Amino acid sequence: MRRAIFPGSFDPLTNGHLDIIRRSSPLFDEIIIAVLNNPEKHPLFSVEERCELIRRILPEAKINDCTLVVDSFSGLTADFARQRGAAAIIRGIRAIGDYEYELRMALMNRRLQPEIETVFLTAAEEYSFVSSTLMKQVFDLGGRVDGLVPDFIIEKMREKIAANR
Ligand code: PNS
Repeated sequence: MRRAIFPGSFDPLTNGHLDIIRRSSPLFDEIIIAVLNNPEKHPLFSVEERCELIRRILPEAKINDCTLVVDSFSGLTADFARQRGAAAIIRGIRAIGDYEYELRMALMNRRLQPEIETVFLTAAEEYSFVSSTLMKQVFDLGGRVDGLVPDFIIEKMREKIAANR
């Protein structure tokens, strides 16, 4: 059984994340989409809401026999990966600007858990500028994010932002 985790904030999941899940699914038997519980960062969606949104969207990402699981975690990604018996940590690289941060994390995670490899996948070009932070900012200011964030999640962002105003 080749198991990997795909950790992140996912606040919210974007089509860039879905693209990375699709690309990595032929490589593993099971991928755990691991949502970081980070209340101190004041996310738009609670960790429970983020997990639920991802569960609703995941059927769009399943393209083969890989089992996709959604779970949340607190603490170190490397510890969560070990506890769940994962062989790999998946991270997407959008552009060269991501590389330095991702390299530092990969090296630190390797130091913490030498048996677990970080696997980098390159994002589709059309999503190379997409981040959850940018999507939230643009949407909050009235810009369109269609095609970059799943429609169902855009609807939930609309509801959440209206409720917060
Ligand atoms: O979606 P993000 O915000 O780019 O994901 C970053 C994440 C969650 C992978 C990273 O912040 C992380 O691993 N946080 C958990 C705490 C941890 O393990 N920190 C040390 C990383 S070397």
